[in-house]
Amino acid sequence: MRFEDKVVIVTGAASGMGLLSAQQYAAEGAKVVLADVNGEAVESAAEAIRQDGGDVCAVAVDIRSYAEVENTVALAVKCFGRIDILANVAGGNPHRVCNCPGGFDEMPLEAIDWGIEVNFTGPIYFCRAVLPVMLKQKSGVIINLGSVDGVTGGAGSVVYGAAKSGMIGLTKSLALFGAPHGIRACCVSPGPVMTRAAMANMKTPLGRAADPDEVTKLILYLSSADAAFISGTNYLIDGARSCGGNG
Ligand SMILES: NC(=O)c1ccc[n+]([C@@H]2O[C@H](COP(=O)([O-])OP(=O)(O)OC[C@H]3O[C@@H](n4cnc5c(N)ncnc54)[C@H](O)[C@@H]3O)[C@@H](O)[C@H]2O)c1
Repeated sequence: MRFEDKVVIVTGAASGMGLLSAQQYAAEGAKVVLADVNGEAVESAAEAIRQDGGDVCAVAVDIRSYAEVENTVALAVKCFGRIDILANVAGGNPHRVCNCPGGFDEMPLEAIDWGIEVNFTGPIYFCRAVLPVMLKQKSGVIINLGSVDGVTGGAGSVVYGAAKSGMIGLTKSLALFGAPHGIRACCVSPGPVMTRAAMANMKTPLGRAADPDEVTKLILYLSSADAAFISGTNYLIDGARSCGGNG
């Protein structure tokens, strides 16, 4: 029960690693705000956690809208009184999500905008909106989701890689900004994760993609008191993919 009485906001909580980390925070005693653009899915995810005894609420939010982000933070404070942890998990490669099979040279501007806004601007908005609460509390942890593509780059990930590199810089600067106020920030940069079957095709020297649980365990560890001296660091969890050999 590492998160007893802690209040956590998880973005991207309707599916994949956002959903799994929300379930795991709740199972360890946290009160969790599940935030996602998919309102129906996030509400049913929250209902399932409630059935298991979790104290959670769901919010439909498009993280590209600062007004919606601010409302989510206000709702978290109204429901649970504070915010101890923000997990910025929402994201995705615009080539896949916006259905752009061609290269970067053919990418529609709308897909470029989506890639930057969901993977970078939205997380910055959430950090901006929770910081006044955390500064007042003089405590807080922010976990940002990067990607191995943000470290190595990727020919098929020009926009995604740029946004995810930005998450590493964002994390470092937040760590410096927050340190005098008891606020930590960490970045978790996975290689391929089996939140969808196609990730098995992305090679790693370890010969497989990660189980989502391997990544969420790292997210939970970094946001726990056991990681109290860790801030500003990017953690690759990529089966050695970033070492240069792709297996
Ligand atoms: N799965 C992988 O292989 C992998 C690898 C490296 C990094 N990552 C990163 O990890 C994170 C989680 O990945 P996943 O595979 O679990 O994701 P996922 O695709 O299963 O879930 C992403 C969630 O984000 C939500 N979302 C999308 N746009 C949104 C918006 N505008 N506002 C609010 N919510 C929005 C979606 O509805 C979805 O529920 C992402 O940031 C992703 O970029 C994933």
